[in-house]
Amino acid sequence: MVALSKVILALVASALLLSRPSAAHPGLGFGWGGGSGGSGGGHGLLPEYYLYSCPQVNDIVVSVLEQAIEREPRMAASLLRLHFHDCFVQGCDASVLLDDSATIASEKRSQPNANSLRGFEVIDEIKAKLEEVCPGIVSCADIVALAARGSTVLSGGPNWELPLGRRDSRTASLTGSNNNIPPPNSTIQNLITLFQRQGLDEADLVSLSGGHTIGVARCTSFKQRLYNQNGNNQPDATLERNYYQDLKTVCPRSGGDNNISPLDFASPVKFDNSYFKLILWGKGLLTSDEVLLTGKVGKTMNLVKVYAEDESHFFQQFARSMIKMGNISPLIGFNGEVRKNCHHVN
Ligand code: HEM
Repeated sequence: MVALSKVILALVASALLLSRPSAAHPGLGFGWGGGSGGSGGGHGLLPEYYLYSCPQVNDIVVSVLEQAIEREPRMAASLLRLHFHDCFVQGCDASVLLDDSATIASEKRSQPNANSLRGFEVIDEIKAKLEEVCPGIVSCADIVALAARGSTVLSGGPNWELPLGRRDSRTASLTGSNNNIPPPNSTIQNLITLFQRQGLDEADLVSLSGGHTIGVARCTSFKQRLYNQNGNNQPDATLERNYYQDLKTVCPRSGGDNNISPLDFASPVKFDNSYFKLILWGKGLLTSDEVLLTGKVGKTMNLVKVYAEDESHFFQQFARSMIKMGNISPLIGFNGEVRKNCHHVN
Protein backbone atom coordinates (compact mmCIF):
# COMPACT_ATOMS: atom_id res chain seq x y z
CA MET A 1 0.00 0.00 0.00
CA VAL A 2 2.78 2.38 1.00
CA ALA A 3 4.71 1.41 -2.13
CA LEU A 4 1.69 2.03 -4.34
CA SER A 5 1.04 5.47 -2.90
CA LYS A 6 4.72 6.32 -3.44
CA VAL A 7 4.38 5.36 -7.10
CA ILE A 8 1.24 7.49 -7.45
CA LEU A 9 2.97 10.41 -5.76
CA ALA A 10 5.93 10.11 -8.10
CA LEU A 11 3.62 10.02 -11.13
CA VAL A 12 1.75 13.12 -9.98
CA ALA A 13 5.01 14.92 -9.30
CA SER A 14 6.46 14.16 -12.72
CA ALA A 15 3.18 15.11 -14.43
CA LEU A 16 3.33 18.45 -12.62
CA LEU A 17 6.92 18.97 -13.68
CA LEU A 18 6.18 18.11 -17.29
CA SER A 19 3.21 20.45 -17.36
CA ARG A 20 5.32 23.50 -16.56
CA PRO A 21 4.83 26.19 -19.18
CA SER A 22 6.77 25.41 -22.32
CA ALA A 23 10.00 27.28 -22.73
CA ALA A 24 8.91 29.08 -25.86
CA HIS A 25 5.86 30.63 -24.24
CA PRO A 26 5.29 32.67 -21.15
CA GLY A 27 3.98 30.64 -18.26
CA LEU A 28 0.69 31.27 -16.59
CA GLY A 29 2.52 32.70 -13.65
CA PHE A 30 0.33 31.01 -11.05
CA GLY A 31 2.20 30.91 -7.78
CA TRP A 32 5.51 31.69 -9.42
CA GLY A 33 5.67 35.01 -7.70
CA GLY A 34 7.59 37.28 -10.04
CA GLY A 35 9.41 40.02 -8.22
CA SER A 36 10.16 38.27 -4.96
CA GLY A 37 13.91 38.74 -5.29
CA GLY A 38 16.63 37.77 -2.91
CA SER A 39 17.87 34.44 -1.77
CA GLY A 40 16.52 30.94 -2.06
CA GLY A 41 15.73 28.84 -5.07
CA GLY A 42 12.71 28.79 -7.30
CA HIS A 43 11.80 32.08 -8.93
CA GLY A 44 10.43 30.13 -11.88
CA LEU A 45 13.77 30.20 -13.68
CA LEU A 46 15.10 26.93 -15.09
CA PRO A 47 18.48 25.94 -16.54
CA GLU A 48 16.63 24.00 -19.29
CA TYR A 49 14.37 26.90 -20.22
CA TYR A 50 15.56 27.07 -23.86
CA LEU A 51 16.16 23.34 -24.25
CA TYR A 52 13.50 23.00 -26.97
CA SER A 53 12.95 26.58 -28.09
CA CYS A 54 16.60 27.55 -28.64
CA PRO A 55 19.00 24.73 -27.79
CA GLN A 56 21.97 26.55 -29.38
CA VAL A 57 21.62 29.59 -27.13
CA ASN A 58 24.72 29.04 -25.00
CA ASP A 59 26.90 28.00 -27.94
CA ILE A 60 25.97 31.18 -29.78
CA VAL A 61 26.64 33.34 -26.72
CA VAL A 62 30.03 31.70 -26.13
CA SER A 63 31.14 31.93 -29.77
CA VAL A 64 30.43 35.68 -29.86
CA LEU A 65 32.16 36.09 -26.50
CA GLU A 66 35.26 34.23 -27.65
CA GLN A 67 35.73 36.62 -30.55
CA ALA A 68 34.90 39.72 -28.51
CA ILE A 69 37.32 38.78 -25.72
CA GLU A 70 40.03 37.94 -28.21
CA ARG A 71 39.57 41.40 -29.77
CA GLU A 72 39.64 43.01 -26.35
CA PRO A 73 40.43 40.93 -23.25
CA ARG A 74 38.83 43.51 -20.94
CA MET A 75 35.42 42.77 -22.47
CA ALA A 76 34.93 39.76 -20.16
CA ALA A 77 35.11 42.08 -17.16
CA SER A 78 32.81 44.64 -18.71
CA LEU A 79 30.13 42.01 -19.37
CA LEU A 80 30.37 40.56 -15.88
CA ARG A 81 29.81 44.03 -14.44
CA LEU A 82 26.87 44.66 -16.77
CA HIS A 83 24.92 41.80 -15.18
CA PHE A 84 25.60 43.18 -11.70
CA HIS A 85 24.39 46.66 -12.69
CA ASP A 86 21.30 45.13 -14.28
CA CYS A 87 20.34 42.94 -11.34
CA PHE A 88 20.73 45.61 -8.63
CA VAL A 89 18.16 47.86 -10.31
CA GLN A 90 14.59 46.46 -10.33
CA GLY A 91 15.99 42.92 -10.73
CA CYS A 92 17.73 41.15 -13.64
CA ASP A 93 15.42 42.47 -16.35
CA ALA A 94 17.75 44.13 -18.88
CA SER A 95 16.52 47.55 -17.70
CA VAL A 96 20.16 48.66 -17.90
CA LEU A 97 20.14 48.18 -21.69
CA LEU A 98 17.27 50.58 -22.44
CA ASP A 99 18.14 53.84 -24.18
CA ASP A 100 16.55 57.19 -23.44
CA SER A 101 13.13 57.61 -25.03
CA ALA A 102 9.87 59.46 -24.43
CA THR A 103 9.03 57.03 -21.62
CA ILE A 104 12.48 55.86 -20.48
CA ALA A 105 15.11 57.70 -18.44
CA SER A 106 18.05 55.50 -19.31
CA GLU A 107 20.11 53.92 -16.51
CA LYS A 108 23.10 54.44 -18.78
CA ARG A 109 23.14 58.06 -17.56
CA SER A 110 23.43 57.19 -13.85
CA GLN A 111 26.46 58.04 -11.73
CA PRO A 112 27.81 54.45 -11.64
CA ASN A 113 27.18 53.83 -15.35
CA ALA A 114 27.92 57.02 -17.24
CA ASN A 115 31.23 56.96 -19.10
CA SER A 116 31.92 53.62 -17.43
CA LEU A 117 29.54 50.76 -18.16
CA ARG A 118 30.33 49.00 -21.43
CA GLY A 119 29.81 45.87 -23.49
CA PHE A 120 26.49 46.93 -25.04
CA GLU A 121 27.66 46.21 -28.61
CA VAL A 122 28.58 42.64 -27.69
CA ILE A 123 25.11 42.11 -26.22
CA ASP A 124 23.70 43.52 -29.50
CA GLU A 125 25.82 41.12 -31.53
CA ILE A 126 24.62 38.13 -29.50
CA LYS A 127 21.01 39.30 -29.76
CA ALA A 128 21.29 39.71 -33.54
CA LYS A 129 22.63 36.15 -33.95
CA LEU A 130 19.93 34.74 -31.68
CA GLU A 131 17.20 36.59 -33.55
CA GLU A 132 18.40 34.87 -36.74
CA VAL A 133 18.31 31.40 -35.21
CA CYS A 134 15.41 31.59 -32.75
CA PRO A 135 13.54 34.86 -33.30
CA GLY A 136 11.60 36.33 -30.40
CA ILE A 137 12.68 33.65 -27.94
CA VAL A 138 15.71 34.67 -25.87
CA SER A 139 15.33 37.70 -23.62
CA CYS A 140 17.97 40.40 -23.32
CA ALA A 141 18.07 39.78 -19.55
CA ASP A 142 19.02 36.13 -20.13
CA ILE A 143 21.62 37.19 -22.69
CA VAL A 144 23.24 39.46 -20.10
CA ALA A 145 23.23 36.63 -17.52
CA LEU A 146 24.66 34.14 -20.05
CA ALA A 147 27.32 36.64 -21.12
CA ALA A 148 28.36 37.13 -17.48
CA ARG A 149 28.71 33.41 -16.92
CA GLY A 150 30.47 32.83 -20.24
CA SER A 151 32.89 35.67 -19.53
CA THR A 152 33.72 34.20 -16.14
CA VAL A 153 34.37 30.75 -17.61
CA LEU A 154 36.41 32.07 -20.55
CA SER A 155 38.56 34.02 -18.07
CA GLY A 156 39.41 30.86 -16.15
CA GLY A 157 36.76 31.15 -13.45
CA PRO A 158 34.07 28.75 -12.28
CA ASN A 159 31.11 27.47 -14.27
CA TRP A 160 27.58 27.01 -12.94
CA GLU A 161 24.14 25.83 -14.02
CA LEU A 162 22.41 29.07 -14.89
CA PRO A 163 18.66 29.35 -14.29
CA LEU A 164 17.00 31.00 -17.33
CA GLY A 165 13.64 32.37 -18.41
CA ARG A 166 13.95 36.01 -17.34
CA ARG A 167 11.83 38.41 -19.35
CA ASP A 168 12.69 42.00 -20.22
CA SER A 169 11.32 45.07 -18.46
CA ARG A 170 9.33 47.79 -20.15
CA THR A 171 10.75 50.30 -17.68
CA ALA A 172 14.09 51.49 -16.34
CA SER A 173 15.03 53.29 -13.15
CA LEU A 174 17.64 56.00 -13.28
CA THR A 175 17.16 56.78 -9.58
CA GLY A 176 17.37 53.08 -8.72
CA SER A 177 20.64 52.91 -10.57
CA ASN A 178 21.98 55.93 -8.67
CA ASN A 179 20.79 54.68 -5.28
CA ASN A 180 21.21 50.89 -5.33
CA ILE A 181 24.64 50.40 -6.86
CA PRO A 182 27.31 50.98 -4.21
CA PRO A 183 29.88 53.71 -4.90
CA PRO A 184 33.61 52.89 -4.78
CA ASN A 185 34.18 54.88 -1.58
CA SER A 186 31.54 52.89 0.33
CA THR A 187 32.08 51.95 3.94
CA ILE A 188 31.69 48.29 4.85
CA GLN A 189 28.32 49.05 6.48
CA ASN A 190 27.17 50.77 3.33
CA LEU A 191 28.12 47.73 1.25
CA ILE A 192 26.44 45.29 3.61
CA THR A 193 23.24 47.36 3.64
CA LEU A 194 23.03 47.73 -0.15
CA PHE A 195 23.62 44.01 -0.66
CA GLN A 196 21.12 43.09 2.05
CA ARG A 197 18.51 45.17 0.25
CA GLN A 198 18.89 42.73 -2.65
CA GLY A 199 18.68 39.68 -0.41
CA LEU A 200 22.45 39.14 -0.52
CA ASP A 201 24.54 38.45 2.59
CA GLU A 202 28.17 39.01 3.59
CA ALA A 203 29.37 35.85 1.84
CA ASP A 204 27.73 37.11 -1.37
CA LEU A 205 29.26 40.55 -0.89
CA VAL A 206 32.79 39.24 -0.47
CA SER A 207 32.68 36.57 -3.16
CA LEU A 208 30.97 38.83 -5.71
CA SER A 209 33.45 41.61 -4.99
CA GLY A 210 35.91 38.98 -6.20
CA GLY A 211 34.55 39.84 -9.66
CA HIS A 212 37.20 42.56 -9.38
CA THR A 213 39.76 39.85 -10.15
CA ILE A 214 39.33 41.07 -13.75
CA GLY A 215 38.90 44.49 -15.30
CA VAL A 216 39.89 48.04 -14.55
CA ALA A 217 38.74 51.21 -12.82
CA ARG A 218 39.13 54.84 -13.80
CA CYS A 219 41.28 57.19 -11.76
CA THR A 220 38.16 59.08 -10.71
CA SER A 221 36.97 55.93 -8.90
CA PHE A 222 40.03 55.79 -6.59
CA LYS A 223 41.43 59.33 -6.58
CA GLN A 224 39.96 60.17 -3.18
CA ARG A 225 42.07 57.42 -1.61
CA LEU A 226 45.29 58.90 -2.94
CA TYR A 227 44.84 62.53 -1.95
CA ASN A 228 42.04 63.10 0.51
CA GLN A 229 40.55 59.95 1.97
CA ASN A 230 39.09 61.48 5.13
CA GLY A 231 38.79 65.16 4.26
CA ASN A 232 42.27 65.84 5.73
CA ASN A 233 44.28 65.90 2.49
CA GLN A 234 45.92 62.61 3.44
CA PRO A 235 45.98 59.29 1.55
CA ASP A 236 44.14 56.23 2.80
CA ALA A 237 46.44 54.82 5.49
CA THR A 238 45.51 51.24 4.53
CA LEU A 239 47.13 51.62 1.07
CA GLU A 240 50.46 49.83 0.77
CA ARG A 241 53.24 52.40 0.24
CA ASN A 242 54.72 51.26 -3.09
CA TYR A 243 51.31 50.59 -4.58
CA TYR A 244 50.26 54.08 -3.51
CA GLN A 245 53.28 55.60 -5.30
CA ASP A 246 52.49 53.63 -8.47
CA LEU A 247 48.85 54.68 -8.43
CA LYS A 248 49.79 58.34 -8.15
CA THR A 249 51.62 58.13 -11.48
CA VAL A 250 48.44 56.89 -13.16
CA CYS A 251 46.11 59.15 -11.24
CA PRO A 252 47.40 62.67 -10.59
CA ARG A 253 45.82 65.03 -8.08
CA SER A 254 44.21 67.02 -10.85
CA GLY A 255 43.15 65.71 -14.24
CA GLY A 256 43.63 62.22 -15.63
CA ASP A 257 40.19 61.16 -14.42
CA ASN A 258 39.74 58.66 -17.23
CA ASN A 259 43.15 57.00 -16.83
CA ILE A 260 42.69 53.38 -15.92
CA SER A 261 44.30 50.95 -13.53
CA PRO A 262 43.64 47.21 -13.13
CA LEU A 263 41.49 46.14 -10.19
CA ASP A 264 43.79 43.12 -9.81
CA PHE A 265 47.17 44.16 -11.19
CA ALA A 266 48.65 40.71 -10.49
CA SER A 267 46.45 39.09 -13.19
CA PRO A 268 44.01 41.58 -14.73
CA VAL A 269 42.46 39.26 -17.31
CA LYS A 270 42.60 36.00 -15.38
CA PHE A 271 39.76 35.04 -13.10
CA ASP A 272 41.56 33.78 -9.98
CA ASN A 273 41.84 34.57 -6.26
CA SER A 274 44.75 37.02 -6.50
CA TYR A 275 42.28 39.87 -5.88
CA PHE A 276 41.97 38.63 -2.28
CA LYS A 277 45.72 38.18 -1.84
CA LEU A 278 46.25 41.77 -2.96
CA ILE A 279 43.72 42.99 -0.40
CA LEU A 280 45.70 41.23 2.34
CA TRP A 281 48.78 43.17 1.17
CA GLY A 282 47.02 46.57 1.15
CA LYS A 283 46.83 46.52 -2.63
CA GLY A 284 43.11 46.52 -3.25
CA LEU A 285 42.33 49.32 -5.72
CA LEU A 286 39.02 50.66 -4.44
CA THR A 287 38.06 51.62 -0.91
CA SER A 288 35.19 49.14 -1.27
CA ASP A 289 37.74 46.37 -1.93
CA GLU A 290 40.03 47.15 0.98
CA VAL A 291 37.24 47.66 3.58
CA LEU A 292 36.19 44.05 3.16
CA LEU A 293 39.34 43.40 5.22
CA THR A 294 39.86 46.62 7.17
CA GLY A 295 36.22 47.53 7.85
CA LYS A 296 36.20 45.76 11.23
CA VAL A 297 33.45 43.34 10.30
CA GLY A 298 34.67 39.91 11.38
CA LYS A 299 32.68 37.98 8.79
CA THR A 300 33.93 39.80 5.71
CA MET A 301 37.47 40.07 7.08
CA ASN A 302 37.60 36.34 7.62
CA LEU A 303 36.17 35.54 4.18
CA VAL A 304 38.83 37.65 2.46
CA LYS A 305 41.45 35.51 4.21
CA VAL A 306 39.69 32.25 3.40
CA TYR A 307 39.34 33.10 -0.32
CA ALA A 308 42.96 34.29 -0.48
CA GLU A 309 44.03 30.92 0.92
CA ASP A 310 41.70 28.67 -1.00
CA GLU A 311 40.77 29.48 -4.58
CA SER A 312 38.35 26.59 -4.94
CA HIS A 313 36.40 27.85 -1.94
CA PHE A 314 36.16 31.26 -3.63
CA PHE A 315 35.07 29.72 -6.94
CA GLN A 316 32.35 27.66 -5.25
CA GLN A 317 30.93 30.61 -3.36
CA PHE A 318 31.21 32.92 -6.38
CA ALA A 319 29.14 30.49 -8.46
CA ARG A 320 26.52 30.21 -5.69
CA SER A 321 26.35 33.97 -5.27
CA MET A 322 26.11 34.62 -9.01
CA ILE A 323 23.08 32.32 -9.16
CA LYS A 324 21.59 34.18 -6.21
CA MET A 325 22.26 37.58 -7.77
CA GLY A 326 20.85 36.33 -11.08
CA ASN A 327 17.63 35.37 -9.30
CA ILE A 328 16.88 38.88 -8.07
CA SER A 329 13.28 39.75 -8.98
CA PRO A 330 13.08 38.19 -12.44
CA LEU A 331 10.08 38.99 -14.63
CA ILE A 332 8.40 35.72 -15.56
CA GLY A 333 5.13 34.43 -16.95
CA PHE A 334 3.19 37.23 -18.64
CA ASN A 335 5.23 39.92 -16.92
CA GLY A 336 7.54 41.97 -19.12
CA GLU A 337 8.34 40.92 -22.67
CA VAL A 338 11.06 39.45 -24.85
CA ARG A 339 12.48 42.54 -26.52
CA LYS A 340 13.23 42.40 -30.23
CA ASN A 341 15.96 44.99 -29.77
CA CYS A 342 17.67 45.25 -26.40
CA HIS A 343 17.83 49.07 -26.63
CA HIS A 344 14.06 49.62 -26.83
CA VAL A 345 10.82 48.22 -25.53
CA ASN A 346 8.76 46.47 -28.22
C1 HEM B 1 30.73 45.52 -3.79
C2 HEM B 1 30.42 46.65 -4.37
C3 HEM B 1 31.03 47.10 -5.66
C4 HEM B 1 31.54 48.33 -5.91
C5 HEM B 1 31.60 49.49 -4.94
C6 HEM B 1 32.05 48.31 -7.25
C7 HEM B 1 32.63 49.39 -7.89
C8 HEM B 1 33.24 49.35 -9.10
C9 HEM B 1 33.89 50.45 -9.74
C10 HEM B 1 33.95 51.87 -9.19
C11 HEM B 1 34.43 50.01 -10.89
C12 HEM B 1 35.24 50.83 -11.89
C13 HEM B 1 34.31 51.69 -12.71
C14 HEM B 1 35.05 52.78 -13.45
O1 HEM B 1 35.95 53.38 -12.86
O2 HEM B 1 34.70 53.05 -14.61
C15 HEM B 1 34.13 48.62 -11.00
C16 HEM B 1 34.52 47.81 -12.04
C17 HEM B 1 34.17 46.50 -12.14
N1 HEM B 1 33.29 45.81 -11.32
FE1 HEM B 1 32.61 46.43 -9.55
N2 HEM B 1 31.85 47.07 -7.79
C18 HEM B 1 31.22 46.30 -6.86
C19 HEM B 1 30.77 45.01 -7.03
C20 HEM B 1 30.93 44.29 -8.18
C21 HEM B 1 30.30 43.03 -8.45
C22 HEM B 1 29.28 42.35 -7.55
C23 HEM B 1 30.75 42.62 -9.66
C24 HEM B 1 30.41 41.37 -10.42
C25 HEM B 1 30.19 40.20 -9.85
C26 HEM B 1 31.66 43.62 -10.14
C27 HEM B 1 32.39 43.54 -11.30
C28 HEM B 1 33.19 44.54 -11.79
C29 HEM B 1 34.07 44.36 -12.92
C30 HEM B 1 34.32 43.06 -13.65
C31 HEM B 1 34.67 45.61 -13.16
C32 HEM B 1 35.64 45.98 -14.30
C33 HEM B 1 34.80 46.39 -15.51
C34 HEM B 1 35.61 46.77 -16.73
O3 HEM B 1 36.82 46.64 -16.75
O4 HEM B 1 34.97 47.22 -17.70
N3 HEM B 1 31.72 44.63 -9.23
N4 HEM B 1 33.38 48.24 -9.91
